[in-house]
Amino acid sequence: MENKNHFISRMLPFLLTIITTVVVVFIEQILLGVKAELNEVKATLQKMEEEKVKNVTFQPFKPLQENCTSCHNERKFMGIHGGDAEINNIINFMEQMPDVHLSPQDVEKVHGSLVLLKCTSCHDEQQIKVLGTMSAEKQKEIIMRMSKKSGSNISPDEVNQIQKALLEIQGF
Ligand code: HEC
Ligand code: HEC
Repeated sequence: MENKNHFISRMLPFLLTIITTVVVVFIEQILLGVKAELNEVKATLQKMEEEKVKNVTFQPFKPLQENCTSCHNERKFMGIHGGDAEINNIINFMEQMPDVHLSPQDVEKVHGSLVLLKCTSCHDEQQIKVLGTMSAEKQKEIIMRMSKKSGSNISPDEVNQIQKALLEIQGF
């Protein structure tokens, strides 16, 4: 009897160690599994985001490619600073060319593209495309933030005009 008790008390720490090890390994496996799943979810989300950008039909400068680049290199537009009057003058001037035929919708869209040129002093086309995937409130918030950046040359009252430009080019 005493021998048996002695045996158990000697085995107890050993048993506890084994049990603890099993529990720790078990929890570790669960955590690793969760981590792997989280990574998978993260990768999927990122892929969805990339797909979304790739699938946007919003082409901020397509109106210029359709109506203007047959005669001008895209560089020609870099000197345009996007004031409303300046843009109207340019479009009016171009419409006097015998080979320039712009429907009223074309005029709106070209106008919109020329407004968005302001963004290209800091961004490539991709970043402006991203804006096309966002809700109206988010767009406004970002354009507002952009207008506050030094050197943006965007005045606060142009924020609405820029947002309108986005919609016009998308054909709304
Ligand atoms: C049929 C050819 C043709 C097309 C299409 C055309 N342009 Fe022009 N554009 C000209 C010519 C010619 C001039 C005058 C010479 C020059 O400045 O290069 C000119 C001049 C300009 C200028 C300079 C104006 C200035 O005051 O110096 C701008 C800016 C311009 N075009 C923008 C546009 C835009 C925006 C479009 C699209 C709506 C467009 N052009 C489409 C032929 C064209
Ligand atoms: C003077 C430089 C400048 C100009 C001009 C500018 N941006 Fe930005 N933009 C930045 C910088 C810097 C960031 C990154 C920091 C930030 O998000 O504020 C940024 C960030 C962004 C982002 C990502 C913001 C987000 O929250 O995901 C978008 C979209 C964007 N700009 C669009 C535009 C558009 C559209 C215009 C034209 C109306 C524009 N930007 C004009 C400098 C500029």
